[in-house]
Amino acid sequence: MGIIHKLDKKIIPKIAAGEVIEGPAGAVKELLENSIDAGAGKITVEVSGSVLESLRVTDNGCGISSDDLDVCFQPFYTSKIDTFDDLYNIKTLGFRGEALASLCAVSSVSIKSRISGNEAGTLIDVRDGRLVKKSQIGMNIGTIVEVSGLFKNIPARRKFLKDHKLEFQKVLEVVSTYALCYPTISFKFYRDGKLILNLPKQDNLARCKSVVGDSVFQFLIPFSGADSRLTVNGYISKPQAASGSQVNQYLFVNNRHVVLKDISRVVKRSYGTLIPHDVYPPYIIFIDINPDLVDVNVHPKKLEISFWDNGYINNYLEQILNDTLNSADLTYVVGSQSDYHYDKTADASTFMSLKDAVPLWKANVVSFEPYENTFQIANTYIASPVKEGVLLVDQHAAHESILYEELYAKYVTNREKSAAFTLSSPLTVSFGVKDAPILSEYLNTFADYGFEMYQVSSTDFNISAVPEILKNTDIANFVKEMLQEIVINGKPTDVDTRTKKTITFLACRTAIKAGDFLSQQEQKNIFLKLEQCRNLYSCPHGRPIKMIITTKELAHFFKRIK
Ligand SMILES: Nc1ncnc2c1ncn2[C@@H]1O[C@H](COP(=O)(O)OP(=O)(O)OP(=O)(O)O)[C@@H](O)[C@H]1O
Ligand SMILES: [Mg+2]
Repeated sequence: MGIIHKLDKKIIPKIAAGEVIEGPAGAVKELLENSIDAGAGKITVEVSGSVLESLRVTDNGCGISSDDLDVCFQPFYTSKIDTFDDLYNIKTLGFRGEALASLCAVSSVSIKSRISGNEAGTLIDVRDGRLVKKSQIGMNIGTIVEVSGLFKNIPARRKFLKDHKLEFQKVLEVVSTYALCYPTISFKFYRDGKLILNLPKQDNLARCKSVVGDSVFQFLIPFSGADSRLTVNGYISKPQAASGSQVNQYLFVNNRHVVLKDISRVVKRSYGTLIPHDVYPPYIIFIDINPDLVDVNVHPKKLEISFWDNGYINNYLEQILNDTLNSADLTYVVGSQSDYHYDKTADASTFMSLKDAVPLWKANVVSFEPYENTFQIANTYIASPVKEGVLLVDQHAAHESILYEELYAKYVTNREKSAAFTLSSPLTVSFGVKDAPILSEYLNTFADYGFEMYQVSSTDFNISAVPEILKNTDIANFVKEMLQEIVINGKPTDVDTRTKKTITFLACRTAIKAGDFLSQQEQKNIFLKLEQCRNLYSCPHGRPIKMIITTKELAHFFKRIK
């Protein structure tokens, strides 16, 4: 007798539901999406006890008719699509008719709903996927869905959700994420009867500020772009706001919250050396694109999507983000940046009281000629008064950046002359049986970068010339590392990128160190040369080069202002 048999029909819906609803946050996400699809202008989320015990979402959307309430909790019942082709022109967040059915398979659900034109609403209770009660009730137009005892019939799943604090945080994150994308909807979130999030209808900017908070928002730089197929806009942060975790990274495609690793990578890459490799910048990105260029049906939780041409989107976005970062002032600032800029011409009237209070003020800070007054702190930082406050520069990071750009400029000039370096005796390098076939496929790419390399046996390769910049490096190792990257990323990192790593290393080794004494002239030179750099904000490793302590921050500290 064979070993393959059909699963018990009681198990099937639970398995299917477990894919759609992973935990309380997943449940809230589905309910919010339904309320948004129903055109709600107000949504209230309430949780009581542990988030597994009771979740309620109330909206003032279009409601569900009494007839539709009989079927809305059954698998694959939806009002949102009719034909298979509709899947490729989705304008709603829901489309599978699975969310309510999944919730009903793993919890007890009550739905109350009233549509316009009806005097009363209807209540249904669903237990174990079956309708157990239906009655009329008085209520406003809209829908209230209450989910209790989530996963009570799947104890194994409940065990994974025992960290109630974490689950609550995830629910809060879901509510804030949707709030971010739908500023014209008012959101309220209650925990055990206490209002913990109250977002009235707002404009886009105000909503972003409310959700991410001022402490992050002050570092966000707006960007936007459009072509015939898509529009992209949102905010990326100054390097200063990047942190060790991927918090405050939001991507919305056609107003759907999605998580796309590719896009996170693109954002990270667009910072280049502006941030260290192990930190992540906050971002809020909205992509609007013709729905038929997106496949939304690729993930059970609808969290991923696929674009008709992912490469196109990635390149487009990277270009915009690069341009945005290149044209922004990315100096690290201590103290509020936006409140005030110390303007020489406004000096007399704006700061009369400060000056009156400190008679020496004027005598001390008279000159804003660039870097007239510089001094070293701990032989490590160079300081200079500037119009916004005090500018501090890390001398090693600054010099490293200066050297890096000089070396890179030399490399580019050589590369333009296609300078290849012929090795005095060709090298033979052996690769593993797994790597050799990949290298042999990419020989042309290596040739484009200036390598003369050919295969001499199934695993051995002969290298007779390399790009000029690599002449003093460990070439075998360089090619091996490049190959590793091909294996990991599926495409080679070009010589430019590889070379940048080498140059970074050289610049770091030759730059002045922390602890080195610098003459006044040398200090000034660092400032002046830094100003010529393309990236004057972060060293090639992504550490910050300069910061400003604003005059306002100083005034706060010295209690001149509150
Ligand atoms: N809050 C609501 N207001 C109005 N109608 C609703 C609401 N919630 C659910 N419905 C109706 O019930 C149907 C089933 O909802 P359900 O969430 O199960 O599926 P869906 O939204 O169509 O697709 P998906 O499974 O992708 O979410 C919806 O198509 C919609 O007609
Ligand atoms: Mg739905």
